[in-house]
Amino acid sequence: MNRKPVVTIDGPAGAGKSTISREVARRLCFLYLDTGALYRAVAYGLTVRGYSGNDAELAGLCRSLRVELQNRDGELRVSVDGEEVTGKLRTEEIGILASTVSASPAVREALLSLQRDIAAEGGVVAEGRDMGTVVFPGAEVKFFLDASVEERAERRYRELIGKGERTSLAEVTRGIVIRDRQDRERAVSPLRVPPDARIIDTTGKPIPQVVDIMMRILEDAGASPAR
Ligand code: DC
Repeated sequence: MNRKPVVTIDGPAGAGKSTISREVARRLCFLYLDTGALYRAVAYGLTVRGYSGNDAELAGLCRSLRVELQNRDGELRVSVDGEEVTGKLRTEEIGILASTVSASPAVREALLSLQRDIAAEGGVVAEGRDMGTVVFPGAEVKFFLDASVEERAERRYRELIGKGERTSLAEVTRGIVIRDRQDRERAVSPLRVPPDARIIDTTGKPIPQVVDIMMRILEDAGASPAR
């Protein structure tokens, strides 16, 4: 491989994608592209602009939203209309609104070139729902991470409680089920397993074990930082 590869990691909410993608990118010395953060940034921007949930106003609003990515010392930061929002995006409310508005073709279209531009030189681990199917169909290595609903809800619950959010396991499970349905059933770029992806079920597997499995696959594919 001359150009550094693009590695895609897709999967449903709570499958461990973020932690795993970040660690795989760190080990490869690649840039970590969290595309969920882009959809969350749109949701955040829409909230600030007083979006009422009306589909008719969505296209106009999202065309006028300025979503930007900046590479700060190898870490991507997201800003909306000039406000750096990276640290404000990982709440359940923003996650569910991001899932809802991400079904809109206007929203997906607005974010497409941003994602492709950042990966133009390769050397990127791109995480999301449609990385291997739509955004980077030619990616050199593709993964699909999955886990049972119970385990995904449990992980998300622990993460939220750890961050001091007040919630219950039942509420988090409801959120996961809603998002699964919305993300899999939308007409544009639904969550699907790319035909050429390696599927890894992370249920019951500690994160380091999953990362090790993926690193072996990546090394076999010639994607190691030393090459
Ligand atoms: O990965 P996440 O939980 O941060 O993503 C939030 C929502 O954004 C997710 O429920 C659906 C949407 N999303 C998407 O439609 N396509 C992507 N590539 C990434 C996220």
